[in-house]
Amino acid sequence: MKKVYIETMGCQMNKSDSERMLGMLSNFGYEETTEPKQADLLMVNTCSIRQLSEDKAFSLIGTWGKWKKTRKDLKIGFCGCVAQQKAQKIFKRANYVDFVLGTHKIYSLPAIIEKINQGEKVCECEETNSTEDSEAAKFEISRVKAVNAWIPITEGCNNFCTYCIVPYTRGRERSRQPEIIIKEVKDALKSGFKEVTLLGQNVDSYGKDFKDKDYKLADLLREVNSIEGQFRIRFVTSYPTDITDELIKTVVELDKVCEYFHIPMQSGSSVVLKAMNRRYDRETYMKIAQKIRDMVPGVTITSDFIAGFPGETEEQFVETLTAMEEIGIDYSNTAAYSPREKTVAAKWVDKFIDEDIKFERLARLNEQNRKCCLASNKKFLGKTMEVLIENFENHKGKNVITGRTRNNKIVHIPYDQDLTGEFVQAKITGIKTWYLNGELI
Ligand code: SAH
Ligand code: SF4
Ligand code: F3S
Repeated sequence: MKKVYIETMGCQMNKSDSERMLGMLSNFGYEETTEPKQADLLMVNTCSIRQLSEDKAFSLIGTWGKWKKTRKDLKIGFCGCVAQQKAQKIFKRANYVDFVLGTHKIYSLPAIIEKINQGEKVCECEETNSTEDSEAAKFEISRVKAVNAWIPITEGCNNFCTYCIVPYTRGRERSRQPEIIIKEVKDALKSGFKEVTLLGQNVDSYGKDFKDKDYKLADLLREVNSIEGQFRIRFVTSYPTDITDELIKTVVELDKVCEYFHIPMQSGSSVVLKAMNRRYDRETYMKIAQKIRDMVPGVTITSDFIAGFPGETEEQFVETLTAMEEIGIDYSNTAAYSPREKTVAAKWVDKFIDEDIKFERLARLNEQNRKCCLASNKKFLGKTMEVLIENFENHKGKNVITGRTRNNKIVHIPYDQDLTGEFVQAKITGIKTWYLNGELI
C-alpha cells in the first residue's frame, strides 16, 4: 500500500477538505502516515489568509523538494487556497511540485493521481462556483479518529471585506444540500463522533441561494437536532448582522445546539469597520451581542480582531480594546493586518501602518484578550458544567482528561482513566487564562 502525508494549514474548512482528500485517496489504495519521510505522496493544504501562512507552505515544500533528489518516485501536491490563487505560477516557483489543486476541484484528486503516476504534471484550479455534492457522496470521509466532526454547509463568501482573500480563493457563496449534510452528520455519528460543527464563512446565510425551497440555518439545526443519540451541535462562523432572532431562539430551544457564538467583530471602531466593508458599526455589534446574552443563558461569544488595518489611528485601535471589554468577549483570535493580493485594502499603500506600530498594537490586543479570557473564566468558578472529553494525557506525571463545555470552555480534570468521547459533569475548581480546572462529580 502506498502512503500519503497531508500537512494541513489554515482554517477548519481546509481540515475538512483534507479529510475528504484522504477519503478519496484511501479508495485509491493510499493509507495515511503521520511521518512525512515515509510517504510516497506528500501534500500540503495551504492557507493564504496572511503572508505568514503562505510563506510557511513554500518553506515546507522547499524541504520536501530536496528529498526528491534521492527519491525519484516521491510525488508532491500543492493544494488549498494558495494553490487556487496562484495556479500554474506554483510550478515556476517550485518545479519539483507534481500537481497543483485548488479549492474548487478537490473531487478531481483521484484523476490527478492517475495522471501524475504516469509522469504528468497537473494543475486543476478553475473556479466552478457550484457545490460538488454528487461527488462528495461517492466516497467515505476519512476523519482523524476524534470527537469532533467538521461539516461544511456553505462554501465561499460574498462579503468582500476589503482585507480578505477568502472570496478570491473560495469563490462565491453556495449552500450544500440539506440531504447531503444530514447524511454526513449521520455517518459521523455512526463512526462514534460526539460533536458536529457546521462550517461556513457566514453560516447565517445558509440557504439564501436555494431557488426551490425556503430552508435556512434554523431549519437545518432543527433537522440535525432531531437525529437520535447524545451529541452536540455547533455552527461557525456567524456574521453579526445576519444573525436572526429566529436563529437565536432556535439555539435556546434545541437541546443539542450549544450556547456558543463565534462572531468576528474585526475592529471596535465604526470608521475602521466602514473601511473594512463590514456591514455594521460598533453600536450595532454591541446591540446584537447584548441581545444574544439576554436571550441565551450561559452563552459565550468569541471573536476575531485585526490590529493595524490601513489608516487605523491610535484612538481607533483603542476603541477595539474598549469594545472587547465592554462586550465581555470570551475569547478572540487576533492578527496583525497583512496585505493580500487582489484585495481592495492592499492598494492603500500610503495608509499602511508601520510594522513596529502594528506589532505593538497586536501585543496590546493579545494582552486585552488574556484579560477578557480570564474575566470570562471567572464567571464559571464553582459552577457544575457538562464536559465532553476529547483527550487523555499524562501531564507532568499526572493523568489528566481534557474536554470542552457546551459554551466551548476548555476544562482540565485530573483522572486516571481515558474517558475520550464521554460526557461528564465537572465542578469548576480553578481558573487559568486559557482554561478551567475541574473535578469530576
Ligand atoms: N468568515 C469569517 C472569517 C474568515 S478569515 C468572518 O467573516 O469573520 C478568519 C480571520 O482572519 C478573519 O476573521 C480576520 O480576522 C482574519 N484575517 C482575514 N484577512 C486578514 C488579513 N489580510 N490580515 C490579517 N488578518 C486577516
Ligand atoms: Fe473574509 Fe469577510 Fe468573507 Fe469573512 S465575511 S470570509 S472576513 S470576506
Ligand atoms: Fe481558510 Fe486560510 Fe483558505 S483561513 S478559507 S484556508 S485562506
